[in-house]
Amino acid sequence: MQTRVAEMLGVEFPILAFSHCRDVVAAVSKTGGFGVLGAVAHTPEQLDHDLTWIRAEVGGAPFGVDLLLPQKYVGADEGGLDAEQTEALLPVGHRAFLDGLLENYSVPPLPDGDHVAAHPLNVSPAGIAPLLDVAFSHPIRLIASALGPPPPYLIERAHGEDVVVAALAGSPVHATRHAAAGADIIVAQGTEAGGHTGEIATMVLVPDVVDAVSPVPVLAAGGIASGRQIAAALALGAQGAWTGSVWLAVKEADVAPAITEKILAATSSDTVRSRALTGKPARQLRTAWTEAWDGPGSPGPLPMPLQFMLTADAQTRMHRYAHAPGSRARELVGTPIGQVVSRLNEVRSTRDVIFRMVEEYQETIERLTGGR
Ligand SMILES: Cc1cc2nc3c(=O)[nH]c(=O)nc-3n(C[C@H](O)[C@H](O)[C@H](O)COP(=O)(O)O)c2cc1C
Repeated sequence: MQTRVAEMLGVEFPILAFSHCRDVVAAVSKTGGFGVLGAVAHTPEQLDHDLTWIRAEVGGAPFGVDLLLPQKYVGADEGGLDAEQTEALLPVGHRAFLDGLLENYSVPPLPDGDHVAAHPLNVSPAGIAPLLDVAFSHPIRLIASALGPPPPYLIERAHGEDVVVAALAGSPVHATRHAAAGADIIVAQGTEAGGHTGEIATMVLVPDVVDAVSPVPVLAAGGIASGRQIAAALALGAQGAWTGSVWLAVKEADVAPAITEKILAATSSDTVRSRALTGKPARQLRTAWTEAWDGPGSPGPLPMPLQFMLTADAQTRMHRYAHAPGSRARELVGTPIGQVVSRLNEVRSTRDVIFRMVEEYQETIERLTGGR
């Protein structure tokens, strides 16, 4: 599995793992893969705390950070909106729809004093700048940008500090734009992936992107949770795998029990690409929440970052009361996750997942090369 990307990043296996959870990131990097911490919802203080912890934990192994850098969002022309400005844009009708939904599912309000002040997702340059300062104050090996091409200030700073820039793309057009902007690695992410996705499947997207951006190396993402799928990714021309969903079903992941239960039971038909979570299409578990927002009678999800802002408090309530007697909050809770959820049928340690991926990859290569 020694590929160009493995060499660039200095890892044994070119298996990159996206997670919001620092324990998963550290466990992957310690096992020979490469952990990438998703920082879109972190405050600068939390990010500093998590990166300090990861750094101490991994003992010199490399790790990275991922941020959302969308080109299109409400307030982009003004350079981003603060919490108050965002709050003022939330329509009364949407608030009423949300209140009605929570009432229908008997989701209790939070006790006074437990409200977390919602802050808009860190998607504007003003929101991202402090996170970048923190990220670059740690010895990160890679910084990833999702939803838009890496801006010149990011490329310049990263290259000045010998940090590799990766950019996620859902189409060859986006991939070409990211490569022209100066990204060192393109992550070709198919529609079956968890989180924000385009409409093209991994099997079709990866070779198209490999050809479009050559000689820039490509990682395949979307639908990869096993050694056979990694072998397929390399066969398509990728230099490794970028994974996300599989790390929601590991012991180190900070995932609520109600979500773990749903993940273990879900089949590949139980996800949907919906705007109900963030305002941009993201693949997630199909739940009463997605059905309500995408169904008749819904005012429709708001554009990014308004939908997240509108629903932050509701999400906290739904998760808090997912197992409360008399509440049907459990039916509403979900998570971004890809179609490969079908393979997540037990909770294993991160170490076991990586070693089994590598073992199955080797078995696959032997089978294909006539060994058996
Ligand atoms: C829970 C979850 C949250 C995600 N959030 C982000 C994110 O904030 N930034 C990002 O670049 N990708 C995000 N993704 C996408 C992953 O980076 C990755 O591309 C995707 O999970 C790969 O497909 P897979 O889910 O089939 O493994 C997320 C994925 C999941 C499952």
